[in-house]
Amino acid sequence: MTSFKTLDDLGDVAGKVALVRVDLNLPMQDGSATDVTRAEAAKPTVMELCEKGAKVLLVAHFGRPNGQRHSTMSTSFVQGDVEEVFGSEIMFVPEVSGPVVEQAIGILRNGDIGLLDNVRFWPGEEANDPAFADAIAAHGDFYVNDAFSVSHRAHASTEGLAHRLPAYAGRAMEAELKALDAALGNPEPPVAAVVGGAKVSTKLDVLQHLVGQVRHLIIGGGMANTFLAARGVDVGKSLCEHDLTDTANAIMDKADHAGCTVHLPYDVVVAKEFAPDPPSRRVCNVHEVAEDEMILDIGPQAVEALADVLKTCRTLVWNGPLGAFETSPFDEATVALARTAAALTQDGSLTSVAGGGDTVAALAHAGVKDDFTFVSTAGGAFLEWMEGRELPGVAALRS
Ligand code: 3PG
Repeated sequence: MTSFKTLDDLGDVAGKVALVRVDLNLPMQDGSATDVTRAEAAKPTVMELCEKGAKVLLVAHFGRPNGQRHSTMSTSFVQGDVEEVFGSEIMFVPEVSGPVVEQAIGILRNGDIGLLDNVRFWPGEEANDPAFADAIAAHGDFYVNDAFSVSHRAHASTEGLAHRLPAYAGRAMEAELKALDAALGNPEPPVAAVVGGAKVSTKLDVLQHLVGQVRHLIIGGGMANTFLAARGVDVGKSLCEHDLTDTANAIMDKADHAGCTVHLPYDVVVAKEFAPDPPSRRVCNVHEVAEDEMILDIGPQAVEALADVLKTCRTLVWNGPLGAFETSPFDEATVALARTAAALTQDGSLTSVAGGGDTVAALAHAGVKDDFTFVSTAGGAFLEWMEGRELPGVAALRS
């Protein structure tokens, strides 16, 4: 793995100002966060810096305000939730640079935490404007990036600051990079990948990259229908991107040449309407889908075969559900395969890394989120990493 400086490389930081990029883009409902996982992920880094006596200034975005102040997108909205998670008071600072920030630093004691306002209120953030990055960097003695989930953005707070101050990976970033390296960078073979989700079009680059990297590519979700159709299967009225059949065939050819087996289901769960427990639900062979039916999950025989595949593997990387898992009973395949992967992980035979919003929700639904080796809460960043791309915020940390 490429080397990064971590908090272990910090000298005496007592009284120094740490600019710490965290992801506090928490999902909110009625004024409070519905999921504080990202704040929890940032806590070890922040607490460690506080214990070492640094003045910690949190740099974060909240929503997509497009370079303008937006009354509903101030980071002050997450302040209470973050204070609760950290178990400490936080001073809200309604700017990201200038005299107000300087004044706040004067008030903060060693070991205190300040939260700067939404860094995306300024157009210089997304433009990665050097003058904007300089203005923020002027307040800090060093920079810590603990926000892998934003590091696919070449923004001032993710990339720009890392080039202006001594830069370190925070604990969450460090754990994420280690896990991702164990899954695709330097994995123990054989490696399997599960790629699911609705549309092939959103994951073309992921699929193209993975077929050259893994021994088994398991395709599920609506995107499997596009591959089945490319193989000549009539998928009825299933979600299917018929215009991508050539692309799907090209991916399967590339897989053949690379020695990667692409696994598509041979039995599926179908229904005439997409609703919970529809009376028309039935399990059938993929070649028996009727014109008025849609495929909503992969079938039990396919799940069993895939479980056998996972038993032969040492590493698994998972993104996307196998079926329409939010609607019962079309969650069954995802739940069953996730439980198999979790059990193999707990037995010590599999290193399992999963990521992406839907995937985290699916694993939580299956009750196995804590039984995988690592579950990333990153969405876009996780996908770009699965595409084999270098993330600018990560690259900038390289020593
Ligand atoms: C996320 O919610 O995935 C991260 O906070 C990144 O947000 P963005 O997609 O608006 O850059």
